[in-house]
Amino acid sequence: MPIVPWREQMSLNYPPLDEEHQDFLNVVNQAPVAAHAGDFSQMDWVFEKCYDYVRNHFAHEEDIMERIQFPDMEAHMNAHRTFIQNISEFRQRYENARTAADKKKAAIEAADFLNLWFLGHILSRDRLLKPYLVRLRNLPPRMNYNS
Ligand SMILES: [Fe+2]
Ligand SMILES: [Fe+2]
Repeated sequence: MPIVPWREQMSLNYPPLDEEHQDFLNVVNQAPVAAHAGDFSQMDWVFEKCYDYVRNHFAHEEDIMERIQFPDMEAHMNAHRTFIQNISEFRQRYENARTAADKKKAAIEAADFLNLWFLGHILSRDRLLKPYLVRLRNLPPRMNYNS
């Protein structure tokens, strides 16, 4: 699977979120390398990074959506919840694999899923936030923190 480069289309012109997306894209790009090499310790790292991402990044993005009163917040949050469910299922399948060959197969499937999910989510759902992020500037200072 080819490495996915960061593209201008992915940018929200808001560095705190852009940097988190860029960091995660790096993880997404490491996944097929680890999976195809059968490098399970690197694959474990990929799964751990996914959990960090849902804990930190989703919380951050959802907090911003609330502050800017993003109209499609509920659907976006549901997409986040679905990802958490999906990635947990992939992890489970990977953990439960009885042979190295099955584990590698599960890792490749998880890597493919991550790749497709990341592109789909950032280019459809996350991108919709872009025009609303200017609202952050007009919030009272207490709500206008930058992280
Ligand atoms: Fe995001
Ligand atoms: Fe998102």
